[in-house]
Amino acid sequence: LHVAAGSGARVVLRWGDAVLSGAPTFDPRDQSAAAQAMQFGYNCDFVCFMPLPRGSRASDHGLLCVNHEFTNATMMFLGVNRDNAAAVMTRALAEVEMAAQGHSVVEIERTGGAWRPVAGSAYNRRITALATPMRLAGPAAGHPRLATSADPDATTVVGTMANCAGGVTPWGTVLIAEENFDGYFAGEAGEAAEAINHARYGVGGGTYYPWWGRHHARFDLAREPREPNRFGWVVEYDPYDPESAPVKRTALGRFKHEAATTALTADRRVAVYSGDDEAFEYLYRFVSRDRFIAGDRAANRELLDHGTLAVARFEADGGLVWLPLVFGEGPLTPANGFAGQADVVIETRRAADLMRATPLDRPEDVETNPVTGRVYVMLTNNARRLPGQTDAVNPRPVNRFGQIVELIPPADGGHGADSYRWEMLLLGGDPRDPLHGADYHPEVSSDGWLADPDNCAFDGLGRLWIATDGAPKTAGFADGIYACDTVGPGRALTRQFLRGPLGAEVCGPWFTPDDTTLFAAIQHPAAGKGSTFDSPSTRWPDFDPALPPRPSVVAITKDGGGRIGS
Ligand code: FEO
Ligand code: CA
Ligand code: CA
Repeated sequence: LHVAAGSGARVVLRWGDAVLSGAPTFDPRDQSAAAQAMQFGYNCDFVCFMPLPRGSRASDHGLLCVNHEFTNATMMFLGVNRDNAAAVMTRALAEVEMAAQGHSVVEIERTGGAWRPVAGSAYNRRITALATPMRLAGPAAGHPRLATSADPDATTVVGTMANCAGGVTPWGTVLIAEENFDGYFAGEAGEAAEAINHARYGVGGGTYYPWWGRHHARFDLAREPREPNRFGWVVEYDPYDPESAPVKRTALGRFKHEAATTALTADRRVAVYSGDDEAFEYLYRFVSRDRFIAGDRAANRELLDHGTLAVARFEADGGLVWLPLVFGEGPLTPANGFAGQADVVIETRRAADLMRATPLDRPEDVETNPVTGRVYVMLTNNARRLPGQTDAVNPRPVNRFGQIVELIPPADGGHGADSYRWEMLLLGGDPRDPLHGADYHPEVSSDGWLADPDNCAFDGLGRLWIATDGAPKTAGFADGIYACDTVGPGRALTRQFLRGPLGAEVCGPWFTPDDTTLFAAIQHPAAGKGSTFDSPSTRWPDFDPALPPRPSVVAITKDGGGRIGS
């Protein structure tokens, strides 16, 4: 892992590190679900830093909140490879995977210039796919389509998984996005009523973990056909209260949520932006019915249960319209199979299809520039788009490199307005190769151009920091982090800041409030064809022959201190 000269990166937390008091020392050759449920999980993705004390702008003490998106059995367990995985993944190993997904909260502090976990902190927490109960709230809570034999009242789900990116609310809670929930469920849908729904999300077949359904009935569609309706939501939890139950906020819709990032509207309601990360899927925005009240944490806690979910239509002339997904409006009626708002949020994709939203080139992270108020959407790539399917916002067929789209809310209404303007910030790829069709600032260097923008963050100066996922495959170099201005003479002049280790994508990124530390998640180091636990392509970050590669969060600081990138 390399960072720009003048800065340094140190590992803060790695897979298997102790999170809870009493966690056993990581032993990759003798893993158990009980141990993993007390240790830092696998494949870190979303990272946020929540200052301590709560509500402060402390930048040397806080809670590091990290998603653990998915598990790679071939990289985690001795002797597992692509050919034998389906046969050798026992119930015990499947439960290690379930415990390795979810989320971690770890108190950290900076002493002597280095970030370290606070051992035994009472804030520390693991949230897992295996065992953490969470409450359902919003229009789909209690609905029969979410009822299972374990939860006939459809009020409580065990666990969260496929936790990709996320967001933070103005009242200091954390949002966890459930993304690729489709491939967790084995078998075919047993009830015709859910067959269309499951097909629209690609649910079934056990694409990722066929063994989960073998060992746990809830991951087998033949036995629990409605269980998939309990995933694909945004989960809200309070990192400052380790006893509190996370809540699945169904009003925000059900799809492959890449992230969930918030902004306040002109009249102080809460907007949540979220991309549905799959080729030809949509960009969504939820706006709360009620206003955010600073300091009234109790009132704010239910803001995400009432409001309007909408989906974006991008016009060729630079206009953007938010199409409301409200039961009874337009085509969202019983004639099309919607009996209420619960059906609209459960089948968000089908509702958005009927509203004729704009299919995008894999919408991933979304962030708002704190200086200008403009919103940036990472469209990572879409190799499936054919020449006849291009449009203004998805202008390239067989799009391998992705693009970044800028949304411009109007001054009146801001993030709550029904229509915005949009512009293209940049088109990824090599600007010197006409076949790439790339477009940046004309002075971008050969190290500065990027491919496959995925996660992003803004620093306090309004500079955009872009993490990539896919460059090794599409561009032939490592994924990394790039930064650029979005206004002025440096607009879209991207510069490389970090280059990730072999096989890894780079996630996070997240700044401390004072911009002196940049946290980044290094996900799936050493992943790739032929690379396994026994014979990995790199043993980053330990480079110890006794240890496998370990997904980790790193903290990047400037030598001698100061604002990152200054
Ligand atoms: Fe989990 Fe779309 O990245
Ligand atoms: Ca991502
Ligand atoms: Ca990704």
